[in-house]
Amino acid sequence: MVFLKSVRPAAAAIALITAGLPKDLDIKNSTSIQSVAKTIAAGTMAYYPGDKDKFVDLAPPYYWWECGAMFGAMLDYSHYVGDHSYDQVISTALSAQTGPDFDYMLPTHFGQEGNDDQAFWGFAVMTAAERNFPQPNPAIPSWLQMSENIFNSLAGRWNDTACGGGLLWQIFASNPNGLDYKNSVSNGGLFQIAARLARATGNQTYAAWANKVWDWTTGVGMMDAKYNVLDGASSRENCSKINPVSFSYSQGIYLYGAAVMANVTGDKVWVERTEGLVEAAKSFFSPFPNATNIMYEHACEQVYRCNTDMRSFKGYLSRFMFASTLYVPSIIPTVFGLLGASAQGAAKACTGGNDGTTCGQRWYYGGFDGMVGLGEEMCALETIQGLLVADAAPPFKGDEIKTVRTFSS
Ligand SMILES: *[C@@H]1O[C@H](CO)[C@@H](O)[C@H](O)[C@H]1NC(C)=O
Ligand SMILES: *[C@@H]1O[C@H](CO)[C@@H](O)[C@H](O)[C@H]1NC(C)=O
Ligand SMILES: *[C@@H]1O[C@H](CO)[C@@H](O)[C@H](O)[C@H]1NC(C)=O
Ligand SMILES: *[C@@H]1O[C@H](CO)[C@@H](O)[C@H](O)[C@H]1NC(C)=O
Ligand SMILES: *[C@@H]1O[C@H](CO)[C@@H](O)[C@H](O)[C@H]1NC(C)=O
Ligand SMILES: *[C@@H]1O[C@H](CO)[C@@H](O)[C@H](O)[C@H]1NC(C)=O
Repeated sequence: MVFLKSVRPAAAAIALITAGLPKDLDIKNSTSIQSVAKTIAAGTMAYYPGDKDKFVDLAPPYYWWECGAMFGAMLDYSHYVGDHSYDQVISTALSAQTGPDFDYMLPTHFGQEGNDDQAFWGFAVMTAAERNFPQPNPAIPSWLQMSENIFNSLAGRWNDTACGGGLLWQIFASNPNGLDYKNSVSNGGLFQIAARLARATGNQTYAAWANKVWDWTTGVGMMDAKYNVLDGASSRENCSKINPVSFSYSQGIYLYGAAVMANVTGDKVWVERTEGLVEAAKSFFSPFPNATNIMYEHACEQVYRCNTDMRSFKGYLSRFMFASTLYVPSIIPTVFGLLGASAQGAAKACTGGNDGTTCGQRWYYGGFDGMVGLGEEMCALETIQGLLVADAAPPFKGDEIKTVRTFSS
């Protein structure tokens, strides 16, 4: 594979990296990937009103969850690209949103917090734990402890009233579809966090929960026999009618959980599931004969119906496909084939604005399509920076995980 570190020249120290134009991206050149990622990371962070001293919510139309998703993307930027210039901003934000019980349940955000929203902050906090990311504030627990708190908060909402179990989408009845829809993104969030905690801690409770959520998801048909992850089902109908729409991020969330379980258990069953989820993920690529291996959000992109949230989904599929390659090497050729082409498509789409670096939405378009936003920046960032996944250390576990109280730079 041309993309692996063994055959690519070593990445340069970031001090030497100058921001590069996305149109010049060379996916076989680490320095080029770093410099384009640097440009798009700046384009992403331009949407964030806070700084290293203060957390500030994203401005509407961006919901609170997308901010957690954004910091997850930026944690990967720091780790893969090696540019630590946003680390303090990230740490301040993650530390500010813990909530009184240190589980990312914030009374001020209850109006827009469902199980999936909490899970997206959970992915970021878990990543911080797995990287020994600095956490200078002694008044809050470690990233790992808070990840466990998030897990316990989510798992505590497991609801057997209908559908034989599962998490509802929402937590509060006041939210639309509050207490009558069970969906894959919420349950996938619990599944993935359980799997990652099983690996990080070795505690079997988490592995048991990962198995339980997987079995429920497949049993109820929210993941079909070909590993397509479907959106959800009404609990009023006992989940008997699955809503067959599918979104890229749910596929990615289950994929990474399965890959982590393959690593935790060493069991071939999880390798096969991971491979199956990658195979099914191909539905999110190659929309037209002129766009082979280019990612798209098939539920909405071609009909211009992607809402603000959906415009960021492709980024998470990229994030979790790349991360999965660390645990299940058999998927490397497929993942890098798909995401290498998509990174090139994304780079061509990031050619708008006065300086020719603003990202558009549709990567099959063959250029900048004029549809801009935080989601567009994040999708391109994750798809391009992830090409460097094999250059960075894999997630820590067990005794490797420490609470680091200071920033080195
Ligand atoms: C790799 O990319 C960097 C930054 O764009 C460029 O300066 C360098 O010449 C490229 N190296 C090769 C071998 O193409
Ligand atoms: C469990 O789900 C049912 C609907 O199936 C709902 O009415 C009930 O409030 C839920 N319980 C909790 C604790 O959320
Ligand atoms: C509801 O669905 C669950 C899971 O599929 C099943 O075990 C249970 O028997 C169903 N209950 C009813 C009343 O149909
Ligand atoms: C394993 O994790 C569960 C859930 O967080 C916790 O209740 C339990 O105490 C843990 N077990 C050990 C041995 O740490
Ligand atoms: C688990 O993942 C690590 C890091 O990629 C790897 O070194 C190790 O061999 C993997 N173990 C198994 C059983 O897959
Ligand atoms: C590929 O075809 C689609 C559908 O006809 C079109 O929208 C798109 O612009 C084309 N892409 C390129 C790169 O020509």
